[in-house]
Amino acid sequence: MSGCKVGIVGIGAVGTEMVKILRQRAFPADEIRIMARTERDEEVAGEVFHVVPASPEAFDGLDYAFFAGTEGAKGASQTYGWDAVSRGVVVIDNGDDFRMDDRVPLVIPEVNPEALENHQGFIANPNCSTIIALMALGPLHKAVGIKRFIASTYQAVSGTGRSAIIELEKQVQAYAADKELVSEVYPHQIAFNVLPQIGGLKDTMPGYTSEEAKMLFEAKKILNAPDIKVSSTCVRVPVFNGHSEAINIEFERPVSPEEAREILSGAPGVTVVDDVANAQYPLPLNSSGQDNVQVGRIRPDDSAENGLALFVAGDNIRKGAALNAIQIAEKLIGTGK
Ligand SMILES: NC(=O)c1ccc[n+]([C@@H]2O[C@H](COP(=O)([O-])OP(=O)(O)OC[C@H]3O[C@@H](n4cnc5c(N)ncnc54)[C@H](OP(=O)(O)O)[C@@H]3O)[C@@H](O)[C@H]2O)c1
Repeated sequence: MSGCKVGIVGIGAVGTEMVKILRQRAFPADEIRIMARTERDEEVAGEVFHVVPASPEAFDGLDYAFFAGTEGAKGASQTYGWDAVSRGVVVIDNGDDFRMDDRVPLVIPEVNPEALENHQGFIANPNCSTIIALMALGPLHKAVGIKRFIASTYQAVSGTGRSAIIELEKQVQAYAADKELVSEVYPHQIAFNVLPQIGGLKDTMPGYTSEEAKMLFEAKKILNAPDIKVSSTCVRVPVFNGHSEAINIEFERPVSPEEAREILSGAPGVTVVDDVANAQYPLPLNSSGQDNVQVGRIRPDDSAENGLALFVAGDNIRKGAALNAIQIAEKLIGTGK
C-alpha cells in the first residue's frame, strides 16, 4: 500500500523510536506528521521533522495515528483520540487511558491478533511490562493453560520517558564527580538504588501500584482468561533501557522445562537464551535495540503444583511500545512483517 499517511502524537522516548522503526521496517508511509505540545523542528535519525502542535484538525487526512503522548485528562489520547477516530483515522494508543475500555481491543500481534477483528478505529497497545511478560506467557498459555502467575519486574528508567533517562545520567555523573545527586523525576535517588514503586496507589486494588494493576487486568484481557490469578511487584532499577522480569507460573498440567523451551523456541518474537552453565540468559543490555523478547532461566518451580519459573528481558521502548504499535498497523494493512 502506498499513499498511507501516518501521524505520531508525542516525540519523547516512544515517539522517537516510532519514527526510527517506521523507517527501519519501510512502513508504507508517504507522510509522517509529528504532533506535540509545542511547535519546533526535531531531528530523528538524521531526518528533520517539523513538529506541529496537536489539534483536532491536525489529524485530518491521516490514515493512522500513533499516540505516544502523556496519559490522563489533559493527555493527548483523552483530548484528541476519539475525535481523530470520528475524522476517519485509526488510532493506536500507547497510553493507559482506554486499555480496559470494552470498545478498545488490547493487542499484542503475536499473541491475540484476533482481537483486531471488528475494531472500532481505536486500538490500545498494552503496558510495556505486560507485553514483555505475555510474549512468553501467551504461547505457553495457548499450549498448556496457565492458572496463575507472579511477575516480579526490574524496569528501566526509559519506561518513565526522556526526563528519567536524563535524571539517571546526571546522577551517575554527579556521583562520579563527588557532587550532590538531585532527584526530580523519582521520589528517591535512582542511581545505585532500586525503587519498589511504579505509579501511584490503586483504589481498586489496595496496596498495589498502578503498574502492578496493569499487569493483572491487561493480562486477563489479552489472554481472554478472566479466571487467571495474577500477582505482581514492579520495581524501577537503574538500567537505561530494557525491562526484565522474573515470572513464576502455575499450569493446568505438568510442564517440563524442555517442553516449555520447545514451545517458546517456536513462538514468533521470542528468542530462547537459556544456558546458565555458559552464563547465557536474558539481559536488558542484550535485549535493548532488539525486536525479540528473550526468555531463559527456565526451570521447575516446586513451590507450586505444575510450577515453572523463567526470566524474560525485552526492549520496553521497542517491543514494549513503539514496535508493538507499528506491528498492529502492519497487521491492519496486511503487510504483516
Ligand atoms: N517509555 C516506555 O517504555 C513506554 C512503554 C509503554 C507505553 N508508554 C506510554 O507511551 C506514552 C509516551 O511515553 P514516553 O516515554 O515517550 O513519554 P515522554 O518521553 O515524556 O514524551 C511525551 C511526549 O508527548 C507529548 N505530549 C504530552 N502531552 C501531550 C498532549 N496533550 N498533546 C500532544 N502531545 C503531548 C510531549 O510533547 P512536548 O515534547 O511538546 O512536551 C512529548 O513529546 C505514555 O503514555 C507512556 O505511558 C511508554
